[in-house]
Amino acid sequence: MTSDRRVAVVTGGASGIGEGCVRKMASEGYHVVAADRDIEKARALVEELTTIGQSVSMESIDVADSTSVDECASIVQGKYGRLDVLVTAAGILESSANLLDMDLEAHDHVWRINYHGTIHCARSFGKLMRAALRGAIVTVGSTTSFVAFPLPAYCPGKTAIRRVTEILAVELGRFGVRVNGVAPTYVITPAMQAKIDAGERDPEVLRNSGALNMLVEPRHIADAVAFLCSDSASAITGVMLPVDAGFNAAIPYRTYAGGVPWKE
Ligand SMILES: NC(=O)c1ccc[n+]([C@@H]2O[C@H](COP(=O)([O-])OP(=O)(O)OC[C@H]3O[C@@H](n4cnc5c(N)ncnc54)[C@H](O)[C@@H]3O)[C@@H](O)[C@H]2O)c1
Repeated sequence: MTSDRRVAVVTGGASGIGEGCVRKMASEGYHVVAADRDIEKARALVEELTTIGQSVSMESIDVADSTSVDECASIVQGKYGRLDVLVTAAGILESSANLLDMDLEAHDHVWRINYHGTIHCARSFGKLMRAALRGAIVTVGSTTSFVAFPLPAYCPGKTAIRRVTEILAVELGRFGVRVNGVAPTYVITPAMQAKIDAGERDPEVLRNSGALNMLVEPRHIADAVAFLCSDSASAITGVMLPVDAGFNAAIPYRTYAGGVPWKE
């Protein structure tokens, strides 16, 4: 069956940035599939949004497992007959560590979900878009896609996502499919809140890390994702868009060796 509505799949759609994207895309009239391994949390979101008349459903997926991702893509194709948007927001955070001392299994676990999860989804869902000659994919990088952080699995993985976003953009451009990414700064999500609660992140440091001195929320990321998927971005592909409250600008400015001419 082919849906009259545009269809968006959001991996990691049950929580945090993915949940923000589900809410935003649903409010814009898409049918949104919240694809997540946490099916109970996805169900609660679907029930909430369905109650207010939005078109949302859920599918179980483990993005680290290519077979699970393939199955989810087949289910979406079978149920809706179209796919307009893919947002790859499933992912995990990392605690700071030394590369030389870190547990290799922990390293590989981060890569399997964040990096392999992204390419599994881009491959399985991207093939539907390539066949349809239309679509938009938005990957989720991070400020760590650009410079070094003491996150020896997460940071290189997010850097690789940035590069693969460019590769996919070139590969799929001639099929009418645009591929971009968002690169959020620290965002107050359940995953980030858990780091705050564990004493691994300080909310005041997060707030003051960017030029805008604000705490960034999932809806801020979702707004940028929706823009990248919209016709307003029809000439934009291969871009990793910082949604960082000025983090990338502020860090080199504030650490300038010649002195900063004003204080907060
Ligand atoms: N929170 C931040 O500060 C921040 C900053 C930059 C980038 N990001 C990125 O945003 C993405 C989402 O992070 P968040 O903070 O919203 O986290 P979150 O934990 O709130 O949400 C992540 C969701 O992904 C799902 N998920 C995790 N592993 C999965 C798997 N293997 N298969 C399917 N679903 C899976 C979880 O169940 C959860 O619903 C991650 O890629 C993260 O790296 C987060």
